[in-house]
Amino acid sequence: MNSSSLYERLGGEDKIHALATTIFDLHRQNPAVRNRYVDSDRDKVIRLAAEFICAGTGGPQSYTGLDMVSAHRGMNISEEEYVAVVDDIVQAMQQHDIGEREQQEMLMILWSLKPEILRL
Ligand code: HEM
Repeated sequence: MNSSSLYERLGGEDKIHALATTIFDLHRQNPAVRNRYVDSDRDKVIRLAAEFICAGTGGPQSYTGLDMVSAHRGMNISEEEYVAVVDDIVQAMQQHDIGEREQQEMLMILWSLKPEILRL
């Protein structure tokens, strides 16, 4: 059995940064959520998303952003928007040739975060 961390199997920091870039750019094109990101600082959001994924998958980086509840409070994010964001992440993982098992592990993590993000 392969026991390396999800972080290592995703390919480490540079690969995760590239993945976060694709995710952000897909959000900006996705009609279900693009209005949420019109005023975003692209580099900053990509950096924080990359840190979040690195730290959350077993990488040595620390995450310097807000916790998920504080980051999304007051946005009243809907179920539909949540699904749209997860769809973009799946599409990005496919574009980056991330393995099936790694995609499933990412989905489990994303699903577990749902109560910290929806309708706050
Ligand atoms: C799928 C799980 C999600 C994760 C892991 C996630 C992660 C993050 C992270 C790490 C940040 C940066 C926090 C900071 O500024 O310190 C953030 C900000 C944000 N998220 Fe999420 N998010 C998720 C879902 C969503 C959804 C469904 C929406 C709604 C479309 C959304 C909209 C936003 C917006 C608008 C920001 C602020 C961007 C900015 O600063 O310009 N997020 N999110």
